[in-house]
Amino acid sequence: MSYLAKNYNRKKIAFTYGKGSYLFSTNGKKYLDFCSGIAVTALGHSHPKLVKTINTQSKKLWHVSNAFQIPEGEKLAKKLCQKTFADYVIFQNSGAEATEAAIKVARRYFYSIGKPNKTRILCIKNSFHGRTLATIFASGSKKMTEGFGYVGGFDHFDFGDHKSLKKKITKNTAAIMIETVLGEGGIKVIPDWCLKELRKICDKKKILLILDEVQSGVGRSGDFFAFEKSKVKPDIVPIAKGIGGGFPIGAVLMNKKVASGMTPGTHGSTFGGNPLAMAVGNTVMDIVSTKKFLNNVKKSSKYFFSKLNKLKEKYPSIIKEIRGKGLLIGIQLYKDQAKFIKKLMENKLLTIRAAENVIRILPPLNVTKREIDIALKIISKVCNQLK
Ligand SMILES: Cc1ncc(COP(=O)(O)O)c(C=O)c1O
Repeated sequence: MSYLAKNYNRKKIAFTYGKGSYLFSTNGKKYLDFCSGIAVTALGHSHPKLVKTINTQSKKLWHVSNAFQIPEGEKLAKKLCQKTFADYVIFQNSGAEATEAAIKVARRYFYSIGKPNKTRILCIKNSFHGRTLATIFASGSKKMTEGFGYVGGFDHFDFGDHKSLKKKITKNTAAIMIETVLGEGGIKVIPDWCLKELRKICDKKKILLILDEVQSGVGRSGDFFAFEKSKVKPDIVPIAKGIGGGFPIGAVLMNKKVASGMTPGTHGSTFGGNPLAMAVGNTVMDIVSTKKFLNNVKKSSKYFFSKLNKLKEKYPSIIKEIRGKGLLIGIQLYKDQAKFIKKLMENKLLTIRAAENVIRILPPLNVTKREIDIALKIISKVCNQLK
């Protein structure tokens, strides 16, 4: 009997350890982990530099309050700002906290400039911004909000419905918040031209643009941020997942204009930005933000996509579409994906579902060509079994 509440439908498997792209189960089996804790273990498992960082920092200092200076956090914030559009950072512990803080930053900015009624956030229906009360209502999903009362302040438009998007902006709208790539929603990429248009709309209406890069950020797309190629500058960007490489870290990045509203006492977190987390974040950042590392992600992505598209041609009755960006990859099937994922797992490849019958493939960003080839062979085998 398990004393854990039943809010997860867990697979009957547990792991004792992980090394690189592999997980080793309690019953002695080796799995290729292309789930990466849902885009979290960006450098694979037990990366030697992360192990060293945790060992070293754990002997020095784990936690102090944000009432004091935290040099490790200063360092990471500087790196994030120097690498991106951002001028300021607030550290959190998770993606939902980061998106929720992004909403607070947007609302507080308008409050601070004497527009307290500009509070509404416009989001894509059935997107995903986390599981706190506010973020489930931001996601606009009936399934996620059912039974949880009501949190107001969010409006929604359908993915791709530009007319409705424009119509839904009112005098009380503070920001548009979208995922640059809808992850849970089925690996749907917002094209660069759309991002540019969104920026234009936000500028015209004098509202803010929040791009949720919790899943798509920190190198996952092949660039540090998935919106980078569009050259769009958002106002606020929540991140999490990859930046901790498996250690819980969230952050909200923002420009100087909106940061002006975040005066002392407006936001806080006991654990957010603690020295141990920050030390890990610094090491992850030093690795993933280099051109060489990101070029390698692009190279792996190109190879993976070309081979997956070949599989799509070979199994046209099984695979409907290959979607995504970088190493945030979706295989959309014609049929329900549960059976396919189960078969992949039986063949020792771990993946995870997304909406619209999509199988999410999220390898570590330092995955090797050989590991991609092993995964492709398993995917091909399962296609053949199910055709
Ligand atoms: C785009 C996006 N935003 C927010 C979140 C919430 O992150 P967390 O589960 O760390 O709270 C997720 C998690 O999957 C996500 O994909």
